[in-house]
Amino acid sequence: MDDTVGDLDAAAAVPVLDVRDLVKDYPGQRALDGAAFEVRQGEIHGLLGENGAGKSTLIKCVGGVVRPTSGEIRVVGQEVTLRSAKDAHALGISIIHQQSNLVGSLSIADNLAVGDSSSLLVHPRAERRRVREMLDEVGLDLDPRVLVASLRPHESAMVAVAKALHSHAKLVILDEPTTALSAEETDILFGQIRSLASRGTAFVYVSHRLGEVFRLVDRVTVLRSGRRIGTWDAPAENQPAILDAIVGDKVPQRAEQSNGPDRGRPLIEVRNLAVEPCADVAFVAHEREVVGLAGLTGSGAEEVASVLSGAVRPASGAVLVRGEEVRLGLPRRAIRAGIATIPKDRHREALLPGFSIRENISLASSGRFLTDPVSRTVRPDRERRAVTEAMQSLRVKATGPQQSVSTLSGGNQQKVVIARWLLEDFAGYVFIDPCAGVDIGAKAEIYNIIRARARAGAAVVFTSSEPEEYQRVCDRVLVFHQGRMVAELVGPEIEENAIVRSSLEPPAQHTLNQKEAVS
Ligand SMILES: Nc1ncnc2c1ncn2[C@@H]1O[C@H](COP(=O)(O)OP(=O)(O)OP(=O)(O)O)[C@@H](O)[C@H]1O
Ligand SMILES: [Mg+2]
Repeated sequence: MDDTVGDLDAAAAVPVLDVRDLVKDYPGQRALDGAAFEVRQGEIHGLLGENGAGKSTLIKCVGGVVRPTSGEIRVVGQEVTLRSAKDAHALGISIIHQQSNLVGSLSIADNLAVGDSSSLLVHPRAERRRVREMLDEVGLDLDPRVLVASLRPHESAMVAVAKALHSHAKLVILDEPTTALSAEETDILFGQIRSLASRGTAFVYVSHRLGEVFRLVDRVTVLRSGRRIGTWDAPAENQPAILDAIVGDKVPQRAEQSNGPDRGRPLIEVRNLAVEPCADVAFVAHEREVVGLAGLTGSGAEEVASVLSGAVRPASGAVLVRGEEVRLGLPRRAIRAGIATIPKDRHREALLPGFSIRENISLASSGRFLTDPVSRTVRPDRERRAVTEAMQSLRVKATGPQQSVSTLSGGNQQKVVIARWLLEDFAGYVFIDPCAGVDIGAKAEIYNIIRARARAGAAVVFTSSEPEEYQRVCDRVLVFHQGRMVAELVGPEIEENAIVRSSLEPPAQHTLNQKEAVS
């Protein structure tokens, strides 16, 4: 037998990453409890588990950002001690953290050069060309001089992806890279991952979009409560076992279905709305109705939802709530008019970092039933009870209402944003991709909450980056394409394929008759 071949096989058999018995204790909380995990060269490995399972903590330990309490990390067979992100980088480990690690106050070009020492030696013109190529590869048509802080969430996510893919790492770890990405962007990312993996780069991929995971990965490891439950080859064939491992003995709630055409009077009316890229959009959301706005990134669906939330001022047009025109362009005006929004970019728009869960949840409603109408003081008992109930119904994993939101896992932070709006009844709700980053148990819970709000009389406007979600919650879906509303799907017509088809290739030059959507 040829010895060299034997040596190569032996080298390939040594995992790129081998984590053994990793423990991480936070005050009052054990985030990792003996976790183990191996990644082989050139494989794409899915790391799954419910919110708070320990995925990000494990990744931060491997990335040198968090020091484990005890345990062992081996990189290509060598035990290592990682004191900083630089240490990990030097060993060929590149990470996209769940909360983006780009620097907002630097340009795209500067962000792409940070931590990349090779760029110091390169001529500026060559450097600009290199940055352009990196952006082209991930399908971004942006000026490299633009500040990252001014990018939309999906754009900065793709810049982070471009950076990680170009780091020449032997191991690239992506923690929820697609929560802000559309289906097309996700496809671009997957293409890049597959091509690099075929040349030997190993990937760890963390996501709560399980459909996406099963499409991409070669193996799966499931964590629960900081421990490994199992690792599976051929994940697509082992889906039921993997799902069981994620949820443990908690039976996931089945989302209830739409209650059919039972809608009441018009509640939110949108008239002649012009907001880039839409020139003239009109529709009505009725009492007891969940209306989905679907479409690719930039189609207008999310832009219209942002107008309703008060975050964006339209060029022209009107929004009426129960027949009264709302002055647009400020979130608090939308709230005063009775529309609550669950925004997509929760870190920038919704959370008070450093404050407790209790403060974050009761923030939206402290003006109402939590406050004594005469003395204007907060009724602490009521507040505590309401907050605890909201936390329970969404299964927020935390030591208690006093834990700082900044120390919650990503998905649990999203649950806090949603819980905040549940303490009070609003006439209308705008849910912008509410399930991004939450685990399957909580997703079903959020669908139920949305349905229950509609049943109680609210009008709900819903958008999602996952087309399959519309059929779970919506009574009606309006599909947008290049700024026009091109299809209306009702009840059983609401189906993932139908939505994807009309958002990609709408019927030739067909704009939905405004009367059709309004009626
Ligand atoms: N800095 C911290 N201080 C205290 N507790 C923390 C801190 N960071 C994480 N935790 C806790 O550790 C546990 C694991 O969190 P981690 O972020 O690893 O979960 P995750 O699996 O990534 O979840 P998600 O899917 O929601 O992102 C959680 O209970 C979390 O509250
Ligand atoms: Mg996480």
